[in-house]
Amino acid sequence: MAEVRPPSLYEAEAYAELLTISFGLAPDQADRLVQEHLPDSVRVAVADGAVMAGLLTDRQAQSWGGRLVPVACIGGGAVAPESRRQGWAFHLLRAVLGEHRTQGTALAALYANNPQLYRSLGFEQAGLRWVAKVSPAQVGGTATAAVVRRLTPQDLPAMKAIYRQVVLNRRDGALERSDRRWRRALGLQSEGRPWWVGAFDDSGALTGYIVWRGQGTIPKLSAVVLDFVAGSVAAATALRGVLSQLSSTVQSIELATAPDDPALWWADSARPHLMERLFIRVLEPAGAVGQWGFPAAVDQALHGTWADPIFPDGDGPFTLEVSSGRGAWTQGGPGGARLTPRALAALLAGRVAPAELAILDGPSLGSGTPWSAVFPRRSVWMRDPF
Ligand SMILES: CC(C)(COP(=O)(O)OP(=O)(O)OC[C@H]1O[C@@H](n2cnc3c(N)ncnc32)[C@H](O)[C@@H]1OP(=O)(O)O)[C@@H](O)C(=O)NCCC(=O)NCCS
Repeated sequence: MAEVRPPSLYEAEAYAELLTISFGLAPDQADRLVQEHLPDSVRVAVADGAVMAGLLTDRQAQSWGGRLVPVACIGGGAVAPESRRQGWAFHLLRAVLGEHRTQGTALAALYANNPQLYRSLGFEQAGLRWVAKVSPAQVGGTATAAVVRRLTPQDLPAMKAIYRQVVLNRRDGALERSDRRWRRALGLQSEGRPWWVGAFDDSGALTGYIVWRGQGTIPKLSAVVLDFVAGSVAAATALRGVLSQLSSTVQSIELATAPDDPALWWADSARPHLMERLFIRVLEPAGAVGQWGFPAAVDQALHGTWADPIFPDGDGPFTLEVSSGRGAWTQGGPGGARLTPRALAALLAGRVAPAELAILDGPSLGSGTPWSAVFPRRSVWMRDPF
């Protein structure tokens, strides 16, 4: 059909044009985004010398059950408007997934506004990214609850350490950010100047930080929070206090959080401003299961039959053994419930209970079975866009 490969400079420009027309990015913004991903993390589908489609792909690691699983984060998928519904997106994605699979990346992730397309490639919903909009007055807090000061690049190691401790080690779905992702979380990639503020305890240790940038102009000025990490009540209260003091010029504050995030309980009427669905794809079950964090108290062997419609080379009976929080997937065994990549993604992400899988066209695994012990429900709220 077409060749899928890293773009030449001319093809990179053509892909940037697709980003502009598809997502409404300003041309220089699209150019910068593509440049930042060149050469390794851009793929285009080229036919007869024309760029039909392109995407960005960033290899990171994702926290699941307290362990880190390598994941290919995919974004910026765009097909030339006049060539849509001809299979270009499917073709490009299948090639890119195959490439990551060959390199040993066990998982792929993306935000889906077109679930049908991604489900046909074996992705399933794993979580949500929920951006709330609140007024500064709703944020409350008291800036003097901790020592606060503006942070500088010298504080970066401490910021990364507290992110790891408070977010990465505790929240399913959190990313061990690539350098590129960190630049975005720190506001270094975006238009405008970011502002970083940290909260410190009595011993002078960083206990939380906030990163935001202004968007728009008065009277519609917003503060877009790019990262908010608080490891103590004092840090959360102080950083909220800093945000609430923006009220004289800032009309609204946007931040990625969860509807039931304890840090948001103070905001009675946080309105959802944006909601994106995170989908994941198990590229290689043995790799994903071997790196996943399972419930520590479970000691269980499960049997089933693996069926991957896109990459069928590992199809057949499998045995999944879970012990001391670790999983091992081996080929062979008596077989059993037919598990597809979609079903396994839903189970691993804990977005559905095994008994609910039938709703997704998956096998009927019943409640109170060994499957329920191995695959508990999890709640994934993403903070990073990609
Ligand atoms: C979304 C997009 C990438 C799809 O590209 P495409 O080449 O048209 O997709 P494909 O032809 O490979 O579609 C494969 C399947 O996906 C589904 N699909 C694709 N576009 C769809 C649409 N607009 N509505 C519903 N289903 C759609 C269909 O099931 C389709 O199979 P079918 O055509 O046999 O019914 C393209 O519309 C696009 O560039 N949109 C703007 C940017 C964007 O939304 N990117 C995705 C961000 S998550």
